[in-house]
Formats: sequence, structure tokens, C-alpha cells
Amino acid sequence: MSDAAPPRLPPTRWALGGDRNPGYGERFAQLIADGTDVVGEARLADTLVERGATILDAGSGMGRIGAHLLALGHRVIAAEPDPVLATQSRRTFPDLPVVPHEILTLTPEALTAAGAPTAYDLVVCVGNVLTFVAERTEVAVLERLGSLLATGGRILVGFHLQQGPSTAREYTPEEFLADVDAAGLVVQHRFGGYDLRPADDLYSVAILSQP
Ligand SMILES: C[S@@+](CC[C@H](N)C(=O)[O-])C[C@H]1O[C@@H](n2cnc3c(N)ncnc32)[C@H](O)[C@@H]1O
Repeated sequence: MSDAAPPRLPPTRWALGGDRNPGYGERFAQLIADGTDVVGEARLADTLVERGATILDAGSGMGRIGAHLLALGHRVIAAEPDPVLATQSRRTFPDLPVVPHEILTLTPEALTAAGAPTAYDLVVCVGNVLTFVAERTEVAVLERLGSLLATGGRILVGFHLQQGPSTAREYTPEEFLADVDAAGLVVQHRFGGYDLRPADDLYSVAILSQP
């Protein structure tokens, strides 16, 4: 066995945001308590797969999307590196398994060790996860997510192109599309929201796949 320390990963923009992240966990807990609809992303995700699909919720936060997909009968694994959010997710949705990994460390070995599948019909990466990853890791993150797709599998990505959370980056459509291409993935569809409105310059919903 090697004594080498595991490579250090750069901190995500989410982690660097710290207390400046705008109360995301508390806000969604309150919205759910108020009975507000917070699962629009999951409704679109559900249309992309057959019944009983295997789904990874990458950067699952407090678990709202993964939990809804689980309730619809899919096999869902949530991956959330923020320990506070992982704890909130386990407390709120005890049936949703959460692996405490950041996307870059979601290797087949790590997933197997966690008792999770290594190939997914759908990877959901919504709620600005892609604009919160560490600087200059966007392509590596997309590559890693692409490597976890089963044959015919797809990735659902959603994030603010601009005017998003203050600790997230801005991401132009051109930069995003170049990063998708550099990651060896292709865009099947692009929209401006989970209701499939036309693509605009504020929010981006994209469905990606292997070529
Ligand atoms: C605004 S929250 C959204 C959470 C959830 N997807 C949702 O829509 O409710 C942003 C999330 O991105 C996660 N994140 C940022 N970089 C990540 C990475 N490299 N791997 C996994 N999660 C990451 C954070 O930990 C945080 O949970």
C-alpha cells in the first residue's frame, strides 16, 4: 500500500463562500414546510428516464431533488460534500442515501466502497452546482460526471448564467459549451428553464450525453 497522501483538491466556490452562502439550506427547509413547489427540476429529470432508473444527484445539497426522484420510485444516490447540508439531507430525507463526496472524487472505486452504483441512467446536477465548483475544475467535473453514465445515460445541468448567487461564478453560454466540448460531451438540448422555455441569457438548463 502506498503512503502517498491523496491529492489535495482545490476548495469549491461553495466552500469558499462559507457564511456568505445565502441561507440555502434554511430557505429550502422553510419553503418545504410552507408547502411550496420546490421540485420542478425533479419533474423534468423524471421525464428523461424510464421507471426505476438509476440516478445520481451530484451536489445534492439538502436533498430536495434526490428525495423527490426517490419517492417516484427511482434508485437515487445523492453526493454532497458540505457536511452541514449532508446532515440536513439525512435528517430531512432519511431514506435518501448520501455519499459525502465531491464530484471530482466520485470514482468507481469510491462509489463501490460506498455501496453505490458506478453507472447511472441520469446524473442530475442542478441548483447552480456547476457555478459553485472550484475554479478551473468545470471541465474535470463534467468529464467525471460523463464517465459515470450508463449506455444512453444523460446529464441534466441547470445554473444561472448571470445574476446567480453572489458566491457563484458567472458562466456565459459560450464558456459552458466550450467546457462541455472539452469534456468530450455533447449537448442534446438547451433551454432557459425547467419548463423548457427557450434558452435565454439568464438561466441555462442543458441535457448532455456522451457523443
Ligand atoms: C445552491 S446548492 C444546490 C444544492 C442542490 N443541488 C439543490 O438544487 O438543492 C450548491 C451545491 O453545490 C455543491 N457543490 C459545489 N461544488 C461541488 C463539487 N465539486 N462536488 C459536489 N458538490 C458541489 C455544494 O456543496 C452545494 O450543495
